[in-house]
Amino acid sequence: MIVFATSDKGGTGRSVTVSNVAYRRALHGDDVCYLDFDFGSPTSGAIFHINEAARGIPKVHGARNGRGLHSYVQGEISDPVRLDVWRTTDRSEMRDNPTSGGRLVLLPGDQGGGELPRVAGDVKQVARLFRTLDEEFGLCLVDLSAGRSYATDLVLEAVRSPLLKGVESRWLVFHRWTKQHIIAASGLVFGENGILASAGRNPEPLVRFVRTAVVDPDSSQLSGLRPAQVAWLRRCNRELQELAGKHGLGHTMMLGEIPLEPMLQWREQLLLDDDVYARQVANLDTLEAFESLADRLFDRKCWEML
Ligand SMILES: Nc1ncnc2c1ncn2[C@@H]1O[C@H](COP(=O)(O)OP(=O)(O)OP(=O)(O)O)[C@@H](O)[C@H]1O
Ligand SMILES: [Mg+2]
Repeated sequence: MIVFATSDKGGTGRSVTVSNVAYRRALHGDDVCYLDFDFGSPTSGAIFHINEAARGIPKVHGARNGRGLHSYVQGEISDPVRLDVWRTTDRSEMRDNPTSGGRLVLLPGDQGGGELPRVAGDVKQVARLFRTLDEEFGLCLVDLSAGRSYATDLVLEAVRSPLLKGVESRWLVFHRWTKQHIIAASGLVFGENGILASAGRNPEPLVRFVRTAVVDPDSSQLSGLRPAQVAWLRRCNRELQELAGKHGLGHTMMLGEIPLEPMLQWREQLLLDDDVYARQVANLDTLEAFESLADRLFDRKCWEML
């Protein structure tokens, strides 16, 4: 299955959340690959702590072409480089991956790569890649650039390609729990040039929303706040729920809700079980939210057409 992760705004928590979902599925034995299609800013290597690819994969010294997804999509190379996260991460606690775990592979962009121009053959190139990876991995997560970007246009075309006939795909749209983000995410999906309008209806794309960095007004984390502040947060939360419902982002369309996690606010990283249970530097709620999202991706009930 291919899952496209997108958002209208930048900085929504898309990459951090999707990386953690990839990690959790791999921990449970799935073979997972993560494709960095954020061409304007290919930094997913940093989240996996792969220092070598923290801003895309560098060229081999003296080579004419790069090795990453930029070069592949532009038709300059026949296969993009794949990094085995368990072996290439510089985070030592992750090196000894559980023996029951599945593969976890990152396809990074090119170091120094930026937004790309459309070129002849790019759609076919991408469709071919998705086809190959879908046959090899149980889950392919594609982290797209925000908004109606080159990457989004490209994959919207690629999914209609005959090469991808029969390949299951789903869309996750990330947004923060604020007025602007709710309106923006709704526009990206339901708007005039939104995903639904552009993808066509045959088959209709499956889309669900993920709320990120959400403050729970009833959380014990907020026990230091004054009663007036908590009351205000509760009122604001109700207003946002109403707004989300009106814009098509209500509960039935929501696949997951990730709490505000202090650890992630300061560092984009994978949240390990040891961070919660042994070191106690991260919250169990956050781990459970990633776990639940990872489960629901494959839960048919959550994706039934409404
Ligand atoms: N659940 C969370 N709690 C607190 N902070 C978070 C959470 N998720 C993400 N963040 C923080 O929000 C910021 C944006 O996250 P991230 O880079 O994943 O978003 P993005 O949508 O991929 O952004 P971009 O558009 O730049 O690619 C990061 O600094 C990250 O650490
Ligand atoms: Mg990102």
